Amino acid sequence: MAKLWKGRFKAGTNELMELFSESISFDRELAYVDIEGSLAHAKMLAECKLITQKDLAAIRRGMKEIKKELETGKFKFNISDEDIHMGIEAELTRKVGDPAKKLHTARSRNDQVATDLRLWTRGKIDELVKLIRNLQKALLGVADDYKDLVIPGYTHLQRAQPVLISQHLMAYIEMLERDCERLTDARKRVNRMPLGSCAMAGTTLPIDRSITCRELGFDDICRNSMDAVSDRDFVIEVLAALSTMFIHLSRFSEDVILWASSEWRLIRLHDAWSTGSSIMPQKRNPDLLELTRGKSGRVIGALMSILTVVKGLPMTYNRDLQEDKEPLFDAVATAELTLKCLEGFVPTLEFNREIALSMLQGGFLDATVLAEYLVCKGLPFRECHEVSGTLVRMAEDSNLRLCDLTLKQMQGVCKLIEQDVFKCLNPAITPKAYVSAGSAGHKEVSKNISRWKKVLK
Ligand code: ARG
Repeated sequence: MAKLWKGRFKAGTNELMELFSESISFDRELAYVDIEGSLAHAKMLAECKLITQKDLAAIRRGMKEIKKELETGKFKFNISDEDIHMGIEAELTRKVGDPAKKLHTARSRNDQVATDLRLWTRGKIDELVKLIRNLQKALLGVADDYKDLVIPGYTHLQRAQPVLISQHLMAYIEMLERDCERLTDARKRVNRMPLGSCAMAGTTLPIDRSITCRELGFDDICRNSMDAVSDRDFVIEVLAALSTMFIHLSRFSEDVILWASSEWRLIRLHDAWSTGSSIMPQKRNPDLLELTRGKSGRVIGALMSILTVVKGLPMTYNRDLQEDKEPLFDAVATAELTLKCLEGFVPTLEFNREIALSMLQGGFLDATVLAEYLVCKGLPFRECHEVSGTLVRMAEDSNLRLCDLTLKQMQGVCKLIEQDVFKCLNPAITPKAYVSAGSAGHKEVSKNISRWKKVLK
């Protein structure tokens, strides 16, 4: 097949070279935004009298047919066309002839591909933000359903203090909120238009970039033609945001895996979202969550990949940049599927209240509250801490809970302790007493549930 650069070259391309350098097998993902960009470009060319209205009409007609072929799966992606940009142009030329040959006036694939990728990324950010919102809503639903359920909160994976499960679940809503913010913020920098930068220097032809900018819904044009065609920091930003999101999803997965483990049994995984073993009939495996944890590696890998591709690139466009797409496409597709799965899975979370209650019995979850009780009796906190620690040791030595000690035993350690101490020695009710802003008890958690309901409605 004749190449678009056939004027300059005598010999054809080596077959392996063709295979090595093609991108149409994956940048077909850009087909629709490529058409959108070309239609805007053609309209601008016509308005600037660089092509005729007749040319424009022919281009529009051809593109409409191509779109239909894409939709019905009839469009042929030829490796010999190299990439989607040339593939579509070649097909347009077959369909409408000469007007198609004018489409690339004042345009290079360098500004074309950068524009396409930005349009694609912008659309995906909008979808991802919706999917994140849906997952937040699902988490909020469970937080609301179990709003009175107390579980041990952990530090160092050691039982620490009693908390409402809702606080734990809503911690992930907060993380996802920041992930949304990061994507939304990156969108501002994604949404600038390289088109019209041409190969890298701009053009001597009287184009009007403000027309294409408006037409394509960009906030502004990229102001420097060399920067416009060569930087991919917008890809880096989005992949960094997705990597951070996957760290959050991975942490969530790890929590659920622990909850479902044979050792905890705080939840039982729903049939629809777990898998069995091919040999051990009793198994109910958290594969969804393990895969989510595992896929975070792949998304973080995509970020490493683009960082490495861009590092050390001289100005301006270099073919290395073609390697920006697969990691981005893969990371975004991975994110979309993972978010959808988790959105489906989260509402099936069912906590075992009895086990939650039994978990509260061990681990001296009331030790901190006991120290705070003594603060209220006027003892300096360091001393309160020591008294509580001594009592924990006493109880532990006799295999008892703090509330199993007698008042006399406790007063033997600290005279300030009175009968009312027993009111705070019950981890199951401690969260009712948390009052500080943002704390893990009933008061603040129900405030936050209402707040999130408004934000996420
Ligand atoms: N397929 C190329 C890419 O994705 C398009 C731009 C090619 N430009 C060039 N001058 N070879 O980066």
